[in-house]
Amino acid sequence: MQNLLEELSSLLKQDNRFFSEGRLLKNKVIELSLQLDAQLLKLLLSSASIKTHFFQDLDGVLVFDKIKFQKFVANKAFFEDNYTSFKNKIGLLAGDDFISEAKELVLAWPYKDCILEGGQQSAEKSRTERFWNEILAPDEIDRMLSPKVLSGFKIIDKNSESAYTSPSVSDNLLIKGNNLIALHTLKKKYFGKVKLIYIDPPYNTGNDDFGYNDRFNHSSWLTFIKNRIQVARDLLSEDGSIWINIDDIESHYLKVLCDEIFGRENFVANIIWQKKFAPQNDAKYFSDNHDHILVFAKTKTVWRPNLLQRSAEAVARYSNPDNDPRGVWSSSDLTVKTYSADYDFPITTPSGKVINPPKGVCWRVSRTRFQELVDTNQVWFGKEGGNVPRLKRFLTDVKDGQTPLTIWLHTEVGHNQEAKQEINKLLETELFKTPKPERLLKRVIEIGSDKGDIVLDFFAGSGTTAAVAAKLERQFITIEQMDYIEGVTKLRLKKVIEGEQGGISQSVSWNGGGSFVYCELKTANQRLIEAISDISDEKSALKMWHEVNAAGAISYKVAPFSADNAAGDFKMLTITEQKKILIEMLDKNMLYVPLSEIDNGDYGLDEQTKKANVAFFSSGFSS
Ligand SMILES: C[S@@+](CC[C@H](N)C(=O)[O-])C[C@H]1O[C@@H](n2cnc3c(N)ncnc32)[C@H](O)[C@@H]1O
Repeated sequence: MQNLLEELSSLLKQDNRFFSEGRLLKNKVIELSLQLDAQLLKLLLSSASIKTHFFQDLDGVLVFDKIKFQKFVANKAFFEDNYTSFKNKIGLLAGDDFISEAKELVLAWPYKDCILEGGQQSAEKSRTERFWNEILAPDEIDRMLSPKVLSGFKIIDKNSESAYTSPSVSDNLLIKGNNLIALHTLKKKYFGKVKLIYIDPPYNTGNDDFGYNDRFNHSSWLTFIKNRIQVARDLLSEDGSIWINIDDIESHYLKVLCDEIFGRENFVANIIWQKKFAPQNDAKYFSDNHDHILVFAKTKTVWRPNLLQRSAEAVARYSNPDNDPRGVWSSSDLTVKTYSADYDFPITTPSGKVINPPKGVCWRVSRTRFQELVDTNQVWFGKEGGNVPRLKRFLTDVKDGQTPLTIWLHTEVGHNQEAKQEINKLLETELFKTPKPERLLKRVIEIGSDKGDIVLDFFAGSGTTAAVAAKLERQFITIEQMDYIEGVTKLRLKKVIEGEQGGISQSVSWNGGGSFVYCELKTANQRLIEAISDISDEKSALKMWHEVNAAGAISYKVAPFSADNAAGDFKMLTITEQKKILIEMLDKNMLYVPLSEIDNGDYGLDEQTKKANVAFFSSGFSS
């Protein structure tokens, strides 16, 4: 590369347009290259190495890669006296440009461009971060994220739970497994079909007792979330939106990250939800009683929120003191602060009092318009006819519902305690500690979707989103990695379709009905990773050493060796090192069974599983 730099700099020295007082005019070089300046192109073509590097031969026609050239010039320090020689060494990327060249503000962190597959299956596993984070080559990433086989299909309805071989994309889905892999598996089928995504990911609180991992290092958390939100965006329909529940620890970083993924112009709101009602007086600094819900539209110019049903309280603000045949009304101020002399005139009330607008303020309407409003009985002067005039607004004329506000009180949408009670009462278990209240999800789903729309939550937890979506007659897809999916998420959804009466059931007259399909990502090497993580003694580690070697599960990056010969070296390691080595040896691209290898006998898939996958992946949406 150094030679290429030297070559280019000596070429450019031959053209005095690019130099001033011995300094390279970098921007001039870029400008003229983008204009395909003939003199510059001739110069570049005069060098064989420059020609090979920046020109492509397409059937005898040389095509200049001006973007490659521009980046090269912009980001390489090829003159020591060039002020860019230092700053551009950072080389971080913002989209396709180097940060130093980008116009946008970006959030950068180590391993930003990696894929963090990150997952966990059972609460007993060590909860120190056990995510292996590797830089994979693009084709390996493609393999890692290619669709995977789904297995263990069951259909669950009001009366039964049975094996299922004809699932389709129109079914409600509960999927067990790593959400990154599951989302990529669904991507092709649901591309642009999902109306609403609500997620409540681990907040990265550093807390150890939730069962699932909530103790990432900051940059891993960002990579973890970024990987998932990027694919989630692909699933959203043009008029869709994503809602992310989060607290103060990561919310501001998440906002910047989402700006990058969705575009700042698609940011809709930061809702503040009052998640706790009782102050915590032993808090060291503040008693934190709110969460954030970040709302981004796929395309804000297209997305519109549904209005909220007027609350009884809001309707009660309307009355009909003058028995107006048009029905109940409420009144609003008739003055405005943007002063105009034409709108500043005295008004004589029915009782004969003369009223002027206060100083510096005028009426909202002209003299003529005011008279029209009086003639049509749209102005209210109070019962005795002597008050400051106000404008009557009829309930029948205002919008069908209320525009949602950005502060959501616990009295309207519930709080954390309420959510825990909902789950404890329904399942008689405290196995899951961080659910959200059904009323909160009701509001999100009602604003962001309509009956029949697809609602997705890929951090299912206890399944609140899916439960509420079912009660509101939406189609749901939800994903959970942990073993408690059986005793919590699946059980809850089963009870929902049986017509349980907790949460929002009574307020929406829910009596059960419908069905959902349960399935799992079919694991291959993932099973070994789980088993390795469980190892606590050297004997089991050695047994696993032989199993891993025999299973043909080793990465091609590990040089071939004889397991028996190398076992001696393996035994010298500490148990932690042994576990690390075992995990590193595994081929991470074979954690799950690729759909493309469904007929490969090595995976031992039964006919029912194959049939169900064919049915699911070949099904289509009705409209
Ligand atoms: C905060 S909880 C969600 C609670 C949920 N909103 C509710 O109301 O019950 C986050 C859930 O995401 C799950 N999760 C975290 N990482 C995951 C991953 N990589 N794949 C699938 N699920 C994951 C956790 O196991 C946990 O159950």
